[in-house]
Amino acid sequence: MNYEVRGASLPHTKSTTINGSFEVPGDKSISHRALIFSSLANGVSEIDGISTGGDVRSTMSCLKQLGVKIEQTNGTVKVHGKGKFSFSPSREVLDAGNSGTTMRLLTGVLAGQKFESTINGDETLRKRPMQRIIDPLAQMGANIVPSYNSTAPLKIFPSDKLHGIRYELPLPSAQVKSSVLLAGMFAEGETTIVEPVESRDHTERMLKLNKVKTPSGFETKISCDYNVEPAKYDVAGDISSAAFFLAAAAILPNSSVTALGITLNPTRIGFLDVLEKMGAQVKVEKAREAAGEPIGDVTVSYSELNCIEIKGGLIPRLIDELPIIGVMAAFAQGETVVRDAHDLRRKESDRIVAVVDNLEAMGAEVEELDDGFIVHGTGKLNGAEINSYKDHRIAMAFAIAGLAAHGMTTIENAEWAQISYPEFFETLERLVVRN
Ligand code: S3P
Repeated sequence: MNYEVRGASLPHTKSTTINGSFEVPGDKSISHRALIFSSLANGVSEIDGISTGGDVRSTMSCLKQLGVKIEQTNGTVKVHGKGKFSFSPSREVLDAGNSGTTMRLLTGVLAGQKFESTINGDETLRKRPMQRIIDPLAQMGANIVPSYNSTAPLKIFPSDKLHGIRYELPLPSAQVKSSVLLAGMFAEGETTIVEPVESRDHTERMLKLNKVKTPSGFETKISCDYNVEPAKYDVAGDISSAAFFLAAAAILPNSSVTALGITLNPTRIGFLDVLEKMGAQVKVEKAREAAGEPIGDVTVSYSELNCIEIKGGLIPRLIDELPIIGVMAAFAQGETVVRDAHDLRRKESDRIVAVVDNLEAMGAEVEELDDGFIVHGTGKLNGAEINSYKDHRIAMAFAIAGLAAHGMTTIENAEWAQISYPEFFETLERLVVRN
């Protein structure tokens, strides 16, 4: 499906605004974990506000393939967990679809099972690197055979015994961290994860693990006597989905939007810090807690934006928001630089290439870096044909770019937005006012 975005007419600054409040689907990272942890618990767990996206449906269907009973009624998901050794082998290959989180976290669980499994994904996921989980899991004694070039499909054979390791993450990745911690529940002795740079900590929060700051970084431990308790999860709104509309308000004059009940977990809100540093008006209200995660309502209003440098420890706190930050940078005064984001090339698409190519197609001045990009803000984009690279975040980021551009923009394969935010285009149509 192609999506046509009618951009503002000249001068763009007066004709298109975005206003109002909106809810976003449940946070994708929290939703995956709520499903997996509930399946490992002994008892019934309830999940409210789960993500409606395709990725989380992939996790749900893999768990069903592994014999977990999961029911969905009126927005509440009930998971009938029977403990960490209750999974049964799937006759079919497990299908993680487009979802890296599904594949990497479930591989950690499957490494500890007494049966063989194969997990595969779609064309995109089959190109993504899996050595990053195979390395630590193999050190623990897991028996995982990947396909060519360390990619999926992954065959996971039962191993005699997993044993705990101390593993220092070579790159900040919550998926790798969570995969190892999950395998640690099945490993003899203690498994310690050391993170020199902190990544999202939903796993630690939801499993109530103790994260300790030491001279080598953040350390978290787990061992085989760990049993997951059934729980009631109230999933916060996904800040990574809300980011598109918050960014639209920041670049369209006379705009102001409020994202209701979104994650305010400090490991996830780098995007709000960037908005503030760029000069947008950001207001957080009704700060509260939902299932161990801080949440709140966030209002962003237009203001003239200035450029910023984004690098180092900030990167993991906004990794999924970098495509929309690239779009915002085109409307900021000066040169916005993104560095230390090499892993952006390993996401659902090479997001450095996708951002640079599409911004160039819209007439922006952009430079590709090995580990990021530089955008010379000119305050102006032209409508163009956008390649979504079959990547949900690229499709949505450039739909917002199209709104602020002169003329028409076409997003090719816009349907990929459904991976994390099926309601995205509907919400966009509701919030946008064309004068
Ligand atoms: C995620 C972690 C991040 C992020 C992804 C979701 C998670 O990936 O980009 O969308 O839920 O753990 P990495 O762990 O590869 O950085």
